[in-house]
Amino acid sequence: MISATGIHAKFPAPGQAAQLGARATALLRTGSYLQCPSAGLRVACAIPQQHHLAPRCFSTTRERRLRGFFPAKPTPHIETTPPSWPHPGYTMEEMKAVVPAHRRPETWSDWVAWKIVRFARYWMDKVTGMDRAQKFDKSQPTTSTAAAKPLTEEQWLVRFVFLESIAGVPGMVGGMLRHLDSLRQLKRDNGWIETLLEESYNERMHLLTFMTMCEPGWFMKIMIIGAQGIFFNTLFIAYLIYPKIVHRFVGYLEEEAVHTYTRSIEEIESGQLKKWSEPNFQIPDIAIQYWKMPEGRRTMRDLLLYIRADEAAHRGVNHTLGNLDQKEDPNPFVSKFKDREPLNPLKGTGYERKDVI
Ligand SMILES: [Fe+2]
Ligand SMILES: [Fe+2]
Repeated sequence: MISATGIHAKFPAPGQAAQLGARATALLRTGSYLQCPSAGLRVACAIPQQHHLAPRCFSTTRERRLRGFFPAKPTPHIETTPPSWPHPGYTMEEMKAVVPAHRRPETWSDWVAWKIVRFARYWMDKVTGMDRAQKFDKSQPTTSTAAAKPLTEEQWLVRFVFLESIAGVPGMVGGMLRHLDSLRQLKRDNGWIETLLEESYNERMHLLTFMTMCEPGWFMKIMIIGAQGIFFNTLFIAYLIYPKIVHRFVGYLEEEAVHTYTRSIEEIESGQLKKWSEPNFQIPDIAIQYWKMPEGRRTMRDLLLYIRADEAAHRGVNHTLGNLDQKEDPNPFVSKFKDREPLNPLKGTGYERKDVI
């Protein structure tokens, strides 16, 4: 019995994804542990009982060197190292209620942030080999998920990995700069730092989850390094000069993330992503532990529901933070109110300042 199907993806050149996906599918049909020649995308399938593997596959590693991914290093005293920031958890109702949303740009800085995200999205679609039939209604780019043709699992994983490797940067930049600001100016931060750092931690957990399902090739690794170099430095300067625009930018980026995960969930639900719908498909252990996913609720769809809810929380939090006075206002998501319950971070377009401060 095949108890895990891993997809081992290398970042394809533009337009190659469909062709490579077809080659990958053919390879999957042929056996339990397979290697594809040096194409941009390689797929392999492992049998854990035989090789004692985690679901990730290793098409470039010699068989005798195969091992589980992110293995715990044995030490004399440490048994396990749980996440430092335990996940707060969501109910199934909360996760299912998440929908793509769009906050209309109102100021010049909103427009700049929105256009940068649209520009990045255009190139993301191009580089992941999205063809015309896979694209959706351009007039509603963040909320419409209907398209004539689904993406393949390989295309989805490429998008997820690249998106998550980028999404973990802004929270760290914002948290770091506010931390240094607090030290330098000898004043309180009022609850922003922890939320921002936790956001970047959460994004990294998304990345690690997908990394157990695919291994980026050299092209994608270079793209990630290049993007991080440019992205970190740009955000660093932007956050020093005008932090509001960075929070708005992240709000729009997270709108795209919610859109991406919503469409992939819908494609699973409509039976278009066959590999992820197989009853014996296993999601990574790291995800089960981090989100404390209950028994019987550990499908790929369940995993994407958790991740989409995280993205929706980042969307609501950053749109709200982008509306606040960056120097004076406390973080309302960790504040105790005189007259109301705690805020719901899953609110699509965030909260206006007058409503929460
Ligand atoms: Fe994420
Ligand atoms: Fe996010």
